[in-house]
Amino acid sequence: MTKNSPSKVTMEKMVSLCKRRGFIFQSSEIYGGLGSCWDYGPLGIELKRNIKEAWWRSMVRNRDDVVGLDSAILMAPQVWVASGHAQGFTDPLVECRKCHLRYRADTVQDDKCPSCGGELTEPRQFNLMFKTFMGPVEDSASLVYLRPETAQGIFVNFQNVQVALRKKLPFGIAQIGKSFRNEITPGNFVFRTREFEQMEMEFFVKPGTDQQWFSYWVEQRLNWYQELGIKPQNIRLRPHGRDELAHYASCCSDVEYLFPMGWSELEGIADRGDFDLAQHAKHSGKSLEYFDEESGEHYIPHVIEPSAGVDRSALAFLLDSYDEEADKDGTRVVLRLHPALAPIKVAVLPLSRKEELAKVAREVHADLRNCFMTQYDDTQSIGRRYRRQDEVGTPFCVTVDFQSLEDHQATIRERDSMAQIRVPLAKLKQTLMTKLGGETFGTQQLWSSTAKDAGQTTSA
Ligand code: GAP
Repeated sequence: MTKNSPSKVTMEKMVSLCKRRGFIFQSSEIYGGLGSCWDYGPLGIELKRNIKEAWWRSMVRNRDDVVGLDSAILMAPQVWVASGHAQGFTDPLVECRKCHLRYRADTVQDDKCPSCGGELTEPRQFNLMFKTFMGPVEDSASLVYLRPETAQGIFVNFQNVQVALRKKLPFGIAQIGKSFRNEITPGNFVFRTREFEQMEMEFFVKPGTDQQWFSYWVEQRLNWYQELGIKPQNIRLRPHGRDELAHYASCCSDVEYLFPMGWSELEGIADRGDFDLAQHAKHSGKSLEYFDEESGEHYIPHVIEPSAGVDRSALAFLLDSYDEEADKDGTRVVLRLHPALAPIKVAVLPLSRKEELAKVAREVHADLRNCFMTQYDDTQSIGRRYRRQDEVGTPFCVTVDFQSLEDHQATIRERDSMAQIRVPLAKLKQTLMTKLGGETFGTQQLWSSTAKDAGQTTSA
């Protein structure tokens, strides 16, 4: 991106901007809200779609060795026994004996209630999986779980996909979807919620090649965030210590982001070995071995898993792109979002509502919206309209003025530099396409070259 300014954003500012401008609302707000559940508004859903699209493009569409999947949220309960979640997916829970508030034991200090200072109970293990019942009878035989990770849908379909697509190792299966965890202490806006979306990929490899593929995916995933504009000083890798590894992992590295509350996990990349496939083979009685035609061996593949959160990514991209700068009217708030992620790519702004001008502007808008996510805005002064678009990260505004009626040209104004160029109406679409791809604007090189297919992100 063009500028690197010190962070001026707090979580409070971001929550307020997200509500004010239609990115994220509290769930069931008119009933007082539902703890840790959030609704994505018109701009939030575009941002999330763009993040998922960018992930899918980099993980599936641009590769020969990864394919996609969309498995059901509800799965056979035996899946969660085999995966270890039924027994081991727990957090230590403590309760205040005085005010009865509950906390995750590892988040409280001095064994005192953070709210009232009361004495806490001994920790007990609390399973994070949501339960529900399938069918009309609510008994233990109809108990099912809302999945706490999308990964298990991939493992149980390993053989289906491998056979149907005739895939040879190494290859991966990717999936994006909702997961649910009954977190004891959700919080920090959409950072930790009870319903969230994951982007996970299970990469199946020949045993013994784990380390090489683990290093490869760690690098790929770190680069992905940076190519989409996350500033290098705000992102880092943190290898897990032996004592903090999940029950299935032999090695794990987190990609961490410098959120306002401190460095926190954005994504985990784990070496799951043969844990999941071996467990499912044991519990289902089906062989999940792979036949390696080259070596003539049968073996259970090992798995490298990059597992990212859509909501945490959205929060990180919003925070990282937030900027404030002084201008003649006070402060200009701008989201310097990468164009591939920006909810609106182009805003069309007629200088006046006079019919002769509005007619041309509407024609321009109709033409551009076939290609990009656009917005037509003819309310208030042009200055205020520019500020509104800056605040939601729109890379370009197209202004149609009275001169346009004579010279058949319009002005393109760029978000970060606020520089303007005059372009023939007939060349607007093509010009915007190449500028969204990073072509120089005036003297300024726009975002990194990795944006080259940004214009296509929300096309059609
Ligand atoms: N399959 C492995 C797995 O689920 P995880 O570290 O528990 O690993 C992966 O979760 C990612 O999912 C996290 O890095 C985070 O981005 C996201 N995530 C996990 N729990 C979350 C929650 N309660 N709220 C929002 N995102 C969450």
